[in-house]
This record gives sequence, C-alpha cells and structure tokens, in this order.
Amino acid sequence: MNNDIKSILVSEEECQNIVSRIAQKISQDYNGKRLLLVCILKGSVVFMGDLMKKIGIPVEIDFMKVSSYGRSTTSSGSINIMLDLYRSDLPETDILIVEDIIDSGRTLSYLVDYLKLKGARSVKTVTMLDKPSRREVDFTPDYCGMEIPDEFVVGYGLDFAEKYRALPYIGILKPEVYEK
Ligand code: IMP
Ligand code: MG
Repeated sequence: MNNDIKSILVSEEECQNIVSRIAQKISQDYNGKRLLLVCILKGSVVFMGDLMKKIGIPVEIDFMKVSSYGRSTTSSGSINIMLDLYRSDLPETDILIVEDIIDSGRTLSYLVDYLKLKGARSVKTVTMLDKPSRREVDFTPDYCGMEIPDEFVVGYGLDFAEKYRALPYIGILKPEVYEK
C-alpha cells in the first residue's frame, strides 16, 4: 500500500465488482438506445475505462473538462467549461455523464442542464462515489457505485494535488499529507 494512505476504503476487487454491477444495469437500460459516455476529465478516466469495457452494448465515448470556482468561499460555485462537447448528433444521442465523485453536486447539476440545453435526447449520470452529506444543491445520480462518508479519498482516478490517480484502489489520505 502507498505510504501516504491511511486506509483502503474500496479495494481493487471491490472497485471491479461495483463497476461490473453498474455496467450490467446500464447495458439493460440502454439497450436499443444510442449511448454516449461523456467522461469528465481528469478524475473519471479510470472509472470510464473500466466501465466502457464492461458495458455489453455498443457505446461511443467523448470527453469534457470542467473546473469549479468558489466552492468553499462563495455559494455561487460557478462551473467553467475548459473542454466542451462539439457534436452535431446530440438530438439522436442518449448521454450518460461519467463522474468520479459527487460532493456539492454543483458540477453534475450544471452539466445535466447544460447538455440538455445543447439538445441531447436524454442526459443521465453515473458516479463511482457519492458523498451525500456534502450536498449543497439537490442532486441525485441515476447510477451510483457507492455512497461514502465525508472523507477525502484518492486513487482510481481521484487525486490530491494531481497525485495518487494511478492507485488501483480508493484510499483515505493520511492527515499529515494535507498538512505538509
Ligand atoms: P462537486 O461539484 O462539488 O460535486 O464536485 C465534485 C468534484 O470535486 C469531483 O469531480 C472531484 O474532482 C472533486 N472531489 C470531491 N471530493 C473529492 C475527494 O474526496 N477526492 C478527490 N476529489 C474530490
Ligand atoms: Mg471530477
């Protein structure tokens, strides 16, 4: 185990089991639809890679990058789109936004509205992790891997200061790592 990790919250095997379960549900629900997985960079890449392999129906993939400002200092929590989705086929497309973790709920709540306004036929969300106790806006994902307590987690794509994304499990950081 990495030296900066206090404990493992979701093991590598548990991650794979969770993704298999979600993928099976998505494969049933989207059968006959035109499924486009939209990965929110960068934290969702690992989840996205595993999920798309386990979904048993044809999928297309795309990417968006967003950054949120003022989460802790203001209540506005505005979202900035750094990489947008440019497609002319959105009216025939069923979008599933793939997210690593939901915290305040602002990112996904904004993106769902944004992609509906852009004309997508349907927009739903899947998240690997959810911290419901941190919610600032009312938001419920359509598919969720696991609800977790209010702890800062890394690994399986998730970072602290761009580190730990490549860990194959989800772990809780040692407090001294933040305080450095
Ligand atoms: P929201 O708009 O507050 O829901 O923001 C969710 C985003 O915050 C995620 O996509 C992550 O980038 C980041 N985030 C929230 N909690 C954690 C965590 O525990 N570890 C790593 N990133 C996190
Ligand atoms: Mg993210």
